[in-house]
Amino acid sequence: MPSKGKVIINLNQTIGTINPAVYGHFIEHLGRCIYPGIWVGENSETPNDKGLRRDVVEALGRISLPVMRWPGGCFADHYHWGDGVGPRGHRPVRVNITWGGEEPNAFGTDEFLYFCSRVGAEPYICLNVGSGSVSEASSWVEYCNYAGSSSYAQLRAEHGVKKPHHVRYWGVGNENWGCGGDFDPVYYAWEYRRYACFLKRVDPSIQLIACGHTTRDWNLRFMECLKDHIHLIDHLSIHHYFGGHGGDIDFTDEQYYSLLGSVQDLEYQLQQAIAVVDFFAEGRKDIGIIVDEWGTWYPQATVEKGLFQQNTVRDAILAASVLNLFNNYSRKVAMANLAQTVNVLQSLILTEGSQTVLTPTYHVFDMYKAHMGNTALAVDVDSPTIMELRPPTQRRARAQRVKKPMQALDISASLRRGENQLVLTLVNQHLTEEVETDIVLEGNLTVEKGEVTVLTAENVRAHNDFNAFNRVKPKHEGIEVSGKTFTYTAPAHSVNTLVIRLK
Ligand code: AHR
Repeated sequence: MPSKGKVIINLNQTIGTINPAVYGHFIEHLGRCIYPGIWVGENSETPNDKGLRRDVVEALGRISLPVMRWPGGCFADHYHWGDGVGPRGHRPVRVNITWGGEEPNAFGTDEFLYFCSRVGAEPYICLNVGSGSVSEASSWVEYCNYAGSSSYAQLRAEHGVKKPHHVRYWGVGNENWGCGGDFDPVYYAWEYRRYACFLKRVDPSIQLIACGHTTRDWNLRFMECLKDHIHLIDHLSIHHYFGGHGGDIDFTDEQYYSLLGSVQDLEYQLQQAIAVVDFFAEGRKDIGIIVDEWGTWYPQATVEKGLFQQNTVRDAILAASVLNLFNNYSRKVAMANLAQTVNVLQSLILTEGSQTVLTPTYHVFDMYKAHMGNTALAVDVDSPTIMELRPPTQRRARAQRVKKPMQALDISASLRRGENQLVLTLVNQHLTEEVETDIVLEGNLTVEKGEVTVLTAENVRAHNDFNAFNRVKPKHEGIEVSGKTFTYTAPAHSVNTLVIRLK
């Protein structure tokens, strides 16, 4: 007998608009992410478009990748953009002081912006605060966005791009509480105000992202210093890595559950960050939360190995649950960026020579793109319980809360109004039991027809590799549905996207 669940979706109870940017990604000059994951150079045997790998560009284009963050990460706070423009043969080679090795500067601003245009993504550039200057940051904005004939605009034109790029998103440093300068929140706030004051004058249309933290204290003390300058801040960022629950492929069933259960920690951190920005903004401005680095980070991903790790069905289920969370917080989550796209951490794509492998996580982003821009709906879920989760340890009690028991079903729903299309992403986290779920619609529309895409594998540790490209891949089928209630049975440890046409 399968377990039973019930989901009630009220078509009139809306949460917010799902910003496509919550399905965003992040690349850094680290390990094999950019070289050779994205950039192989024009003379490479790997098929390329002006030096960019064609296979990677095409795969990223297929998931409608909305926004890409670059150049770091920790790398951003020692990157000098002037090193990466102009004729490639004249660019300096620098030491990558965070991640090791040498940085050839072959992939710089113009290559990044061309890459974004090929993929169809909006660029998000993270500025150097830790070892840079306000004038260096301002000139970068001017180089990218200024429409007149200033020397930086002319330089851009000399490098082949006459029209401004209008880069909208700019991060004011990265993890400045750590690798980005070891600042304290008050010092960072003063620096932030100085940067923001001038950057917004160079281009008043840009949106600035301040470096926040998953600890509430940093955000409180930073926002306290910003409260009389609220016009200078558009978004506050936090980072969240999921680690400490076994290895990339080798993990116990208990570690599978504890990893998924830790999505609740991210939810708690989101709630804390939202409460802080809303408190200090006092209704004068809607400051969004941006989770501009997130994903799994296993012990296999060491600096020596360029943070490479494998990616299993467990990673796909985690990604799906986190994306459900972002959808359900769409009122405040303005963007999120999975770390880091190719060959690093929770990658979408792995490369070896001229070959590429799409990971299970890639398929989740493909399956979730149907939510982009939709209206998120409230869902009432009655799910079989899997287990109680361990209370936080004393040491971590401030960063966590007492956890809710772990439920098999994790869901988000959205409506594409013009097309009367309901999108339901339903994760069954149970390792061994399928869940027969009654789905009840409230509102004045009824179901006409539906289809489902399912991602699972017999073994939750299954992954794709260069000797098994399609071991884990989604299956697509029509489903028999009509009226106001229908039943869908989600296989054990699976991600399911139901697209339902309403009338
Ligand atoms: O994504 C890897 C690193 O993790 C980033 O450079 C840094 O911002 C974070 O600590």
